[in-house]
Amino acid sequence: MGVFRQAILSLLAIFLLSLSWQAFGSPSSSSGSFIRCLLSHSQPCHPISRAIYTPNNSSYSSVLQSYIRNLRFNTSTTHKPFLILTALHESHIQAAVLCAQKHNLQMKIRSGGHDYEGVSYVSQVAFFILDMFNLRSIHIDVGSETAWVQAGATLGEVYYRIAEKSKKHGFPASVCPTVGVGGHFGGGGYGNLMRKYGLSVDNIVDAKLVDVNGRLLDRKSMGEDLFWAIRGGGAASFGVIVSYKIRLVRVPETVTVFRVAKTLEENATDIVHRWQTVADKLDNNLFIRLFLDVVNIGTHGKKTGRATFLALFLGDSKKLVSVMSKSFPEMGLKKSDCNETTWLQSVLFWTNFPLSTADDVLLRRIPQTLTYLKRKSDYVKEPISKEGLEVIWKRLIELNALNAVILIFNPYGGRMGEIPAEETPFPHRAGNLAKIQYVVNWNEAGKDVTDYYINLTRKLYRYMTPFVSKNPREAYFNYKDLDLGINHNGKKSHRQGRVYGIKYFKGNFKRLVKIKTKVDPGNFFRNEQSIPTLPYSRK
Ligand SMILES: Cc1cc2nc3c(=O)[nH]c(=O)nc-3n(C[C@H](O)[C@H](O)[C@H](O)COP(=O)(O)OP(=O)(O)OC[C@H]3O[C@@H](n4cnc5c(N)ncnc54)[C@H](O)[C@@H]3O)c2cc1C
Ligand SMILES: *[C@@H]1O[C@H](CO)[C@@H](O)[C@H](O)[C@H]1NC(C)=O
Ligand SMILES: *[C@@H]1O[C@H](CO)[C@@H](O)[C@H](O)[C@H]1NC(C)=O
Ligand SMILES: *[C@@H]1O[C@H](CO)[C@@H](O)[C@H](O)[C@H]1NC(C)=O
Ligand SMILES: *[C@@H]1O[C@H](CO)[C@@H](O)[C@H](O)[C@H]1NC(C)=O
Ligand SMILES: *[C@@H]1O[C@H](CO)[C@@H](O)[C@H](O)[C@H]1NC(C)=O
Ligand SMILES: *[C@@H]1O[C@H](CO)[C@@H](O)[C@H](O)[C@H]1NC(C)=O
Repeated sequence: MGVFRQAILSLLAIFLLSLSWQAFGSPSSSSGSFIRCLLSHSQPCHPISRAIYTPNNSSYSSVLQSYIRNLRFNTSTTHKPFLILTALHESHIQAAVLCAQKHNLQMKIRSGGHDYEGVSYVSQVAFFILDMFNLRSIHIDVGSETAWVQAGATLGEVYYRIAEKSKKHGFPASVCPTVGVGGHFGGGGYGNLMRKYGLSVDNIVDAKLVDVNGRLLDRKSMGEDLFWAIRGGGAASFGVIVSYKIRLVRVPETVTVFRVAKTLEENATDIVHRWQTVADKLDNNLFIRLFLDVVNIGTHGKKTGRATFLALFLGDSKKLVSVMSKSFPEMGLKKSDCNETTWLQSVLFWTNFPLSTADDVLLRRIPQTLTYLKRKSDYVKEPISKEGLEVIWKRLIELNALNAVILIFNPYGGRMGEIPAEETPFPHRAGNLAKIQYVVNWNEAGKDVTDYYINLTRKLYRYMTPFVSKNPREAYFNYKDLDLGINHNGKKSHRQGRVYGIKYFKGNFKRLVKIKTKVDPGNFFRNEQSIPTLPYSRK
């Protein structure tokens, strides 16, 4: 390495160190005046002091850690907030927004904490967290088939409360019960009802939000532009979501699930190839997710590829077997592979609880397992050929020395193909066969380990280039990936915001920027991948 380059690198290192030192040193002077500002906004019936946690409070660490869902950001070197405000009332949110602007502070908003990159609770500059977990009421109105759900509710709580009132209703969102409403609905939200009913955001009819001026707005008072933006454009760019009003969807009292695995020795490649030609065209009542991973077979540590098909059918097993034998006989589904159950239990089954686990496990706020993780996403427009699949298996087996990688394919089609791409900020509609999620999990801290797995994820993503969408290479906003918009040399690309913006939102990015510029011209609601404002706009 040249002396010159080395000098630059050490300068850079010093610069970075000083940055992180700044971020660590809590801005105690501004912290004090910020707290005074918060207290001055306190309402007698809703004292804000009970919601303020600074590092000198003995509960600070446990409050911070309670909603960290990626252990990569649970280390001593992770930048910590100088304050956490655990809002107990709307007025606390309003105070946070007004006082943070007055003191020019970075605010991060956290609901369920599932952001893959920790964007809701980590920052490279001094910051505080507005934590929403206390605001989690759920009001179901079966008569009008709607519900108001607060941002801090988890999806498991939403599903449980719906089922308490009605066995014939559900809601299309993730099957991971600990995910938070605030981030999930704000960024799209999909689950196994997607082919029948679309995304979470396709079923939101109203919202309450605190805007940059500290006003509490609903759909009518915020207007249709802002209401459009907070249904998939990433609500954190536009305001603080207090609650969403959702439209419940109808589900039968009996649904059917199955999980069937095939190894390469059991013709996984042929079946996967066939899956790609049917999964997006099947009966809308049927959703079959596909997992590709690597397992050991025999006793000699031989590795092979495995395809696992996980399904939800909105109907009974007899009908399911008949649909499958007509549309997808290659899988050879038998009635004995199927389990009939309730919709609520199907969520448990999908998230790896055994059937007949008590329903109220959905109310548990702590995930079954926590790992160190990195995620990426891609869209598949055309079926991958058998030869292509062989290449992918080979790469997976090569990379998967430590059983860390899974590819998850979620089929599109059905209702997803009918909703116009401009209807909500989420643009990946007709013309998509499936979305791939790259899952890489590990269980150890340390910089080298982290680098190793992050490198591995990027390698996998490179290998997949020929098989996925191009110009742009699309990505799902809720699968936050801070690599997007970063060049190979690790530097932010020129107009980085546009790079991730187009990947996440395609043609809708422009409208998001326009709305952002109008409702938050000072860019108060910002984070690592927020919607940028127009650079030279005056208003
Ligand atoms: C285990 C796991 C499973 C998942 N499964 C799925 C899935 O099946 N389908 C799917 O679509 N996604 C899934 N995701 C991704 C998930 O939808 C996103 O991470 C989502 O943003 C999480 O919402 P949250 O409130 O839990 O996260 P948070 O980390 O709290 O928030 C995520 C983002 O939203 C912002 N935000 C949070 N609350 C508010 C608010 N009240 N107002 C404004 N902005 C807010 C945050 O600032 C942050 O930018 C999964 C994630 C994990 C970790
Ligand atoms: C920490 O904050 C909580 C809630 O505001 C408060 O009840 C408690 O007394 C505080 N503890 C300390 C050590 O300041
Ligand atoms: C804790 O920190 C806050 C703000 O930094 C300060 O106002 C308060 O006096 C401190 N409390 C204690 C008990 O040290
Ligand atoms: C997060 O880190 C803290 C401090 O090291 C530790 O006590 C805690 O167990 C960690 N959380 C998890 C889920 O591992
Ligand atoms: C795999 O396919 C071959 C050729 O079509 C067939 O003969 C064989 O029985 C299949 N194996 C399994 C386990 O299904
Ligand atoms: C699921 O279905 C299988 C096969 O029909 C059956 O043996 C099993 O008992 C069922 N499990 C539950 C919990 O119903
Ligand atoms: C990760 O990749 C970078 C850049 O290619 C390389 O410098 C580094 O050594 C790799 N780290 C590990 C642990 O593999």
